[in-house]
Amino acid sequence: MTRYISATAVATLVDDFDRSPAYAGLAEALRALIADGRIAHGARLPSERELTDALAVSRTTVTRAYAALRDRGYAEARRGAGTFTRVPGGPSRAPDRVLTPRTDGSALIDLNCAAAPAPPGVGAAYESAMAELPGYLVDHGYYPVGLPELQRAIAASYVARGLPTDPDQIMVTPGALAATAVVASAMTGPGDRIVAEVPGYPNAAGALGVRSTRLVGASLDVDGWDLAGIAATIRQSAPRLVHTIPDFQNPTGNLMLDDQREEYAAALASARTVALVDEAHQALALEDQRMPLPMAAHVEAAGGEAITVGSTSKMLWGGLRVGWIRAPHARMDALTQARLTLDLGVPVFEQLVAAHLLRDPADILAAHRERLRRQRDVLVAAVARELPEWRFRTPAGGLALWCELPRAEASSLALEAESRGVVFAPGPVFSAEGGYERFVRIPWTRPADELEQAVSTIAEAWSSEQASGTRRTPERVMVA
Ligand SMILES: Cc1ncc(COP(=O)(O)O)c(C=O)c1O
Repeated sequence: MTRYISATAVATLVDDFDRSPAYAGLAEALRALIADGRIAHGARLPSERELTDALAVSRTTVTRAYAALRDRGYAEARRGAGTFTRVPGGPSRAPDRVLTPRTDGSALIDLNCAAAPAPPGVGAAYESAMAELPGYLVDHGYYPVGLPELQRAIAASYVARGLPTDPDQIMVTPGALAATAVVASAMTGPGDRIVAEVPGYPNAAGALGVRSTRLVGASLDVDGWDLAGIAATIRQSAPRLVHTIPDFQNPTGNLMLDDQREEYAAALASARTVALVDEAHQALALEDQRMPLPMAAHVEAAGGEAITVGSTSKMLWGGLRVGWIRAPHARMDALTQARLTLDLGVPVFEQLVAAHLLRDPADILAAHRERLRRQRDVLVAAVARELPEWRFRTPAGGLALWCELPRAEASSLALEAESRGVVFAPGPVFSAEGGYERFVRIPWTRPADELEQAVSTIAEAWSSEQASGTRRTPERVMVA
C-alpha cells in the first residue's frame, strides 16, 4: 500500500520552518514529522516542482532538502516513482504501524504484550525535551522523587479528575510496575498478606511478592468484581494491602463503577486496610464516556487510605518508562526510603518528555484512543465471526478482549497458534493459583490487518485442536 501526501498538506505541516538556511530548515521539519509518524512511513512525498510551488521557495531549496532527508535515512528516491519517506531501521521501526503493514519479513504476530505503538505527537515531545535538556545539565541530575515540573503535571492531572493532590504527594518511578514494587517494599514485610485480584496482571503479583509476602486471591469473573466476596476476604485475611485495577482491569477489561468503588472503599476503610490502586489503563476510555472518580477519592471519602500507581505506558507509550506513585503526605518519607534502596530516580530526559506530554495530552490521547477503538472493533468483529462459540464482553476501554472458550484448552490452543505464527497469553498466565484454562486474552494493540490475520490463524488452530484432541502446556514470559 502506498500513500501520497499532497504538497498543500506538507506545506501546512511544515508551516513556518526555519529559513536559515531554508533547505536545512525544511529538511529538519520534514524529518521531525516523519520520525513522529505525522507523515507516514512509506508515503510518497510531493514532487519537487509541486512542493516548490506550494511553499513559494526556490526549486534548489526543495531539491537540497530532499537530498538532506535521504542522507539522514528519512527518504529514498525510487527511480521513475518519486521520493518516499522511510525511517532509519526500516518499517518495523516506523511510529505509525496502523497504516503500515509489516513488510519486515517477521512472520510472528505478537499478541502476548498488550501495549500499543506510540501515537503521533510522542516523537515531537522528545524533540521539545531535547531543547530543554541543556538547562538541566548544569545540575547533578538526581531527582529521587521526580522532576518538580513533572510532579506538578501529574498532580494537576489528579486534580482535573476530581482528586485534590499536591505535587509533593507524587513520586516519579520507571513505570507502574516499579511503582508497585516500591509500595510493596515500603509497606510490607515477610509473612504479611496482600489481597490481589485473580485473574490479574501477573507481573504486579510478582512485584507484590518480593518481600516474601503471602498473596490472597480475590476473584473476579467476566461480569466484574464480587464485592461481597472481596469484603469477606479482606475481613478474614486482615491484609496489609489490597491491590486492585479498577479501570479496564487487566485481563478482564472490567471498569468498576462509582457505586461499586464506594462499596469497595467502605470495606477497605472498615478493615483499616490500605488500597493499592493500579490505574495503568485509566486513560483508555474508548466510548467518550465520563470516567468514575479515581478509586483513591472514594477511599479517602470513606476515611480510608489509598496509594495509587499510574503510568504513561498504556496512556502514551511503554518505551517512555515513566510512571508514578500518588500517596498521602504521611507515607512519602517511607516510600522515598524504600525507593532509594531500588534506584535513585528516572532519567531527566524522559521526565522532561513526560512533563511535556502530560501538561497537554488531549490531542495525542484522542488520536491514540481513536486508533485503539478502531482496532478493538475490528478484533471484536473478527472473533465474533470466526470463533462464534467463544464468549466475551466488549470492554468500554483498555487494551484487550478476555474470551471464554467452550472448553478448558487455552494453554494447548496458545501453543498450536504459536506454531502457526500467532502468540497470545492463555488464561492461566493471569492466575498464580492456576485455573482459567477456559480463557484467553487477545489485545487489540496491533494494526487492524494483523488482528484479522491473527484471529483467522487462531480459528484454524482452534479447529485443528478440536479435530486432534491433543493438549500441550506452554511456559511463557509476559510483560504487559
Ligand atoms: C495493570 C497494569 N499495571 C502495570 C503495568 C505495567 O506498567 P508499566 O509499563 O508502567 O510498568 C501493566 C502493563 O501491562 C498493567 O497492565
